[in-house]
Amino acid sequence: MVKEDVKSIYDRMDDFESKEIVVAGWVKSCRTNGKFGFIELADGTCFKTLQIFFEKEKISNFDIIEKLNTGSSIKCKGNIVLTPENKQPFELRADVIDVINATDNEYPLQKKRHSLEFLREIAYLRPRANLFNAVFRVRSKLAFILHEFFEQKGFVHVHTPLLTSSDCEGGSDLFRVTTQNIYDESKKFEPEDELFGKKVYLSPTGQLEGEACAFAFGKIYTFGPSFRAENSNTTRHVNEFWHLEPEVCFMDLEGLMDLEEEMMKFIMTKILERCPDEMKFFNEFVDKSLLERLNNVISSDFGKITYTEAIEILKKNNDKFDFPVEWGCDIQTEHERYLSEVVFKRPVFVTDYPKEIKAFYMKQNEDGKTVRACDLLFPGIGEVTGGSERETDYDKLLNHMKTLNLKEEDYWWYLNLRKFGSVEHSGFGLGFERILMYITGVSNIRDVILFPRTPNNCEF
Ligand code: 4AD
Ligand code: MG
Repeated sequence: MVKEDVKSIYDRMDDFESKEIVVAGWVKSCRTNGKFGFIELADGTCFKTLQIFFEKEKISNFDIIEKLNTGSSIKCKGNIVLTPENKQPFELRADVIDVINATDNEYPLQKKRHSLEFLREIAYLRPRANLFNAVFRVRSKLAFILHEFFEQKGFVHVHTPLLTSSDCEGGSDLFRVTTQNIYDESKKFEPEDELFGKKVYLSPTGQLEGEACAFAFGKIYTFGPSFRAENSNTTRHVNEFWHLEPEVCFMDLEGLMDLEEEMMKFIMTKILERCPDEMKFFNEFVDKSLLERLNNVISSDFGKITYTEAIEILKKNNDKFDFPVEWGCDIQTEHERYLSEVVFKRPVFVTDYPKEIKAFYMKQNEDGKTVRACDLLFPGIGEVTGGSERETDYDKLLNHMKTLNLKEEDYWWYLNLRKFGSVEHSGFGLGFERILMYITGVSNIRDVILFPRTPNNCEF
């Protein structure tokens, strides 16, 4: 007999009435009074569990089953009985329960509630805990919904490389990739000795390659891991994060912000539609204002403010910050949150940053001081996307690169794009984990990525 998914039973309850089926999965709980008992079974196909009813009279191994620990894997044959008057709309009345692999008392997920810190230490087991099961299921749906959004709009999905020889984001620290035994202090290594014959890094962005593809397909996006070697232990930084980066030709900064706002509203609407059980769970156990908050974002117009205007507002409140602001300084998380939480009370785009604090590829404004950049800030999180219109003027781009000590020979092909049919174009990068934090209400980025990579943490 073929195993049925628990999800199928929930989806087509009436089809299963009185039907004999086989299910298999993991015990979430088992309780008994010596004569009969209930197992709550999770098979991973949906967030909900299946209730299995078992009786001493019917199953031969009752003594073993009634002692089953949480986490044990079992297979069960029985009949589905609809129970509309009960909490569970149906249950499986077991005829046979086979134990596949029983856990013992060492299984760490016995209790219903564990601290998030403890669960991080057992990251290889935590997807089985309710919170993480919900988070990673929403993560999966969210990735699919993002693909759907860009597919519907005619974007081509390109796969940009993870190994790169250029440092696109300037300030960001890079992981070096080497084939040499660099811990052998008796040897001296030259870049020419490397497999690639030059210095190579894990890429912090797919943007530059994405721009090359945009000039072929008009609109593209890339979605994959990006790496930043910064030694920062915050609740919103990881050294390996998932990065969605669209790049669109014939689009200016205004168009880009419209695209971002449309994307945000699309993904939130679809997640609420498609993950009702998980979202209800988050609203109950993680953040009681979550659903209200997401619905507000869907129905509100995002704010817009220039960096210069933002600094004026922040300066008046400098007494509230650890880092007082001044025109020209970087906006820190505390300022980003003040703007989105206190001033705007909704997502807000900050535009036209000083060129000194932004990347070399951003289009310079007429004022000679600022660039056509936009960061999208969310309440509770801060920066969720960073984007810009791109510089298309060859000479301006080259001059800017020179002032930043970027080597022309490392970027020759990127510069050439400005000579071979260059057009106005814009793009942004979405931190996938950051938006996932906002959508689930989970407040630490380590809890929305399977095996977080942070300083001193690469166990699993
Ligand atoms: O602002 P960033 O550095 O922009 C870029 O990399 C551009 N090349 C994007 C583009 O225009 N195509 O990064 C984009 C987003 C940030 O807004 C943030 O959400 C996320 O990536 N991000 C991180 N997320 C988690 N951990 C980190 N260490 C992150 N660094 C950036
Ligand atoms: Mg940024």
